[in-house]
Amino acid sequence: MASVTFKSVTKRYGDFVALRDLDIEIGDREFLVFVGPSGCGKTTTLRLLAGLDSVTTGDIYIGDRRVNELASRDRDIAMVFQSYALYPHMTVYDNMAFSLELQGLGRGDIQQRVQRAAQQMGIEDLLQRKPKELSGGQRQRVAVGRAIVRNPAVFLMDEPLSNLDAQLRVQARTEISHLHRELESTFIYVTHDQVEAMTMGSRIAILNQGVLQQIDTPQAVYSSPKNKFVAGFIGSPAMNFFEGALVEMGDRLWFKSDALSLPLPPTTPQYQRYIGQRVICGLRPEDLHDACYLPPGMVTAPLKGTITHTESMGHEVIVYLALGDGQSCAARVDRRSALALGESVELAVNTTALHLFDPHTEVALI
Ligand SMILES: Nc1ncnc2c1ncn2[C@@H]1O[C@H](COP(=O)(O)OP(=O)(O)O)[C@@H](O)[C@H]1O
Ligand SMILES: [Mg+2]
Repeated sequence: MASVTFKSVTKRYGDFVALRDLDIEIGDREFLVFVGPSGCGKTTTLRLLAGLDSVTTGDIYIGDRRVNELASRDRDIAMVFQSYALYPHMTVYDNMAFSLELQGLGRGDIQQRVQRAAQQMGIEDLLQRKPKELSGGQRQRVAVGRAIVRNPAVFLMDEPLSNLDAQLRVQARTEISHLHRELESTFIYVTHDQVEAMTMGSRIAILNQGVLQQIDTPQAVYSSPKNKFVAGFIGSPAMNFFEGALVEMGDRLWFKSDALSLPLPPTTPQYQRYIGQRVICGLRPEDLHDACYLPPGMVTAPLKGTITHTESMGHEVIVYLALGDGQSCAARVDRRSALALGESVELAVNTTALHLFDPHTEVALI
């Protein structure tokens, strides 16, 4: 059991900064997910923690022990790699037993641990096979099984589900969450998939270009993104953005653009200094409604456009709208909606749901 702390950790490869000034505290037994686009520094972060690479500046702690100079094998962690990295010439059993043999454990002890891990992962029947005789899903379980035999204080997982098909991914997601509860150790999980991040993490840390953007619970990140990057990265279809201005009309502030006029919530002193200035307004697709199916009591403003594409998902319909100014946006509307391709429509925007961002810093105005 262990907490993990990064203190001002920077990693450079030559002139290139892969990770910049990362400060993060991960609690004992937490399930923390690092998420971000390809190349943002996720694998680098795990490799630094695992001791497979060394920091350029800063310190890493596991528990209260500074581990910068500690060899990988002494850090009490196990890593599941994206490629699984199973030894092809060894059986599943030997793949799982290998690290225990290196630790010098006795044969009986090893057998017991491998059996138990195999049982936990449901791969008891596969122990005598070689990796090439396994399906993708089975290999993934073996890779996780090989990590859990070591009973480490911290598990690192680098996109362990990215080679699985969609259905297996959903199943494996719940299995790993279950495993986390069962093992009661710290899990640090890396993915580029925001659905995995949202569903698995007790907190999620969003990285972009080596810089931590926000760390919070999935709900908080979704409802209060700190900046435009996080707002656009978390959520699918992505948040719609509108460029416009903040103006004062009567006793209220409004967001005004070619396509939209939205009254802002009345008591928001932080908006005052943006009066007359350009701002970016963000609206999530679920906050644009088919006016025929409005939740009772919702105060809305109209958004005119032409429907260019519809996707019926069964439980909802995603419609894509071309706005007058050449911009497009996505709406997630009621499944009974009859909005049709080519139709000119007026969607209803929930006026309490908007997010505003500074157009230069892209920081949220909250
Ligand atoms: N050994 C290396 N030498 C030079 N650049 C590297 C090295 N490892 C990673 N990088 C660069 O650092 C950035 C972050 O890489 P990585 O952490 O692997 O990203 P990801 O978030 O996709 O896992 C990328 O731009 C990558 O090209
Ligand atoms: Mg990676």
